[in-house]
Amino acid sequence: MKEVIYQNMLVRRSVRQFKKDNPVSQAEIEYILKCAMQAPSAKNEQAWEFMVINKRALLDMLAASHPYGRVLATAPLAIVVVGNTQKVKSALYPQDLAAATQNILLAATALNLGSCWLGIHTHDDRAKSLIDTLALPEHIVPFSVIAIGQPEDPNALKPIDRYQPEVVHYNRW
Ligand SMILES: Cc1cc2nc3c(=O)[nH]c(=O)nc-3n(C[C@H](O)[C@H](O)[C@H](O)COP(=O)(O)O)c2cc1C
Repeated sequence: MKEVIYQNMLVRRSVRQFKKDNPVSQAEIEYILKCAMQAPSAKNEQAWEFMVINKRALLDMLAASHPYGRVLATAPLAIVVVGNTQKVKSALYPQDLAAATQNILLAATALNLGSCWLGIHTHDDRAKSLIDTLALPEHIVPFSVIAIGQPEDPNALKPIDRYQPEVVHYNRW
């Protein structure tokens, strides 16, 4: 099992073209979200919430509103990771949301689905358009959008070796 997890991390790649008409099943969505909620969080606050977007018209609206939104033009599913500031005491919470986002990418990969992280955090313009499009209440802060679906290219998920010994420092610089 450990080997499976290791292999999964090595084949995860950003996928930006999807089979538009192949939906992600409800069971797959729930598996992905279960993995997201398994992420570590500072003080175990778990201040994340998730918006599941699988309506074509809404996906197209999100595609039009993000500078790299064309990724969503063929994705059958997007998960928007948001923070609930009413649950937050730790200023570290964006890091919790990043951990949840990464778990989503890895869960999608485990299901042989492609995924791509679209950055929102620190981009006020992207956050504002998401807040408007999804009618998010004031205490809900968008962090990332993840496009998910069957990759158009059947070989999209394949390992590349990025190991760089020169960036690893044992015990002293
Ligand atoms: C915080 C963050 C923001 C990102 N935002 C975007 C984005 O807006 N559009 C996009 O196409 N990819 C985005 N990516 C994906 C990166 O471009 C991608 O991970 C990187 O090029 C490495 O490629 P790989 O994911 O295939 O390993 C983002 C990744 C991270 C971690």
